[in-house]
Amino acid sequence: MELLFIGDVVGSIGRDMITEYLPQLKKAYRPTVTVINGENAAAGRGITEKIYKQFLEQGANAVTLGNHAWDNRDIFEFIDDAKYLVRPANFPEGTPGTGLVFIKSNQLEVAVINMQGRAFMTDLDDPFRKMDELIEQAAARTNIIFVDFHAETTSEKQAMGWYVDGRVTAIVGTHTHVQTSDNRILPKGTAYLTDVGMTGPYDGILGMDKDASLRRFLTAMPTRFEVPKAGRGLLSGCMISINDTTGRASKIERILINEDHPFTM
Ligand SMILES: [Fe+2]
Ligand SMILES: [Fe+2]
Repeated sequence: MELLFIGDVVGSIGRDMITEYLPQLKKAYRPTVTVINGENAAAGRGITEKIYKQFLEQGANAVTLGNHAWDNRDIFEFIDDAKYLVRPANFPEGTPGTGLVFIKSNQLEVAVINMQGRAFMTDLDDPFRKMDELIEQAAARTNIIFVDFHAETTSEKQAMGWYVDGRVTAIVGTHTHVQTSDNRILPKGTAYLTDVGMTGPYDGILGMDKDASLRRFLTAMPTRFEVPKAGRGLLSGCMISINDTTGRASKIERILINEDHPFTM
């Protein structure tokens, strides 16, 4: 089985990159399962039902979220019916949505987990203990388990990678919006990448308008961050090759598409 994951889609430029390149990526890599992180898909803040459905129509099997999950209030209208929308599992008890979904692909099931880190982020439930719980739940149904770990620090992501090695198929990071180059298969067969990077404006700062962001650094004054609506795009993702029988990963490859790294089949 081949799994394609695409990192944080930011605004309309990010969505346009999906429209343009997802069909090409599907043709080139023939993924069995596709997962997209959509926490910034609606103008950089959250996701709407329309965008969620668009991702599914474009071939995503599940959409993961992160700390921006609740930024667009539209989500409260549809999250209860969104079977393939995954929000961080360690949000407090009683929060809408779920942190674990199962995707059916041919005869196989893939568990998709979304978890959020705590270092330099909101103080949520312990992601490590929560991960134990979810792995147990997932493993009762399938040995193919994919984790999107939405966290700020490299150390917390590496720690989680080692913590789940041999217990999940793959764990990849999101949230920092910049792709790291440390893709590897950990000793017990878990594919790992600290951060997949984002899919959105190539010429901004983490996907936001660079002038507004720069102004904040230069003046320490509050500025409103906006997502650029026009300009060059970037797509960040990864491809994971999975042994269907063992649930272990054999390969993880990074995908980075922009004008400096053009897509070639
Ligand atoms: Fe993000
Ligand atoms: Fe985030």
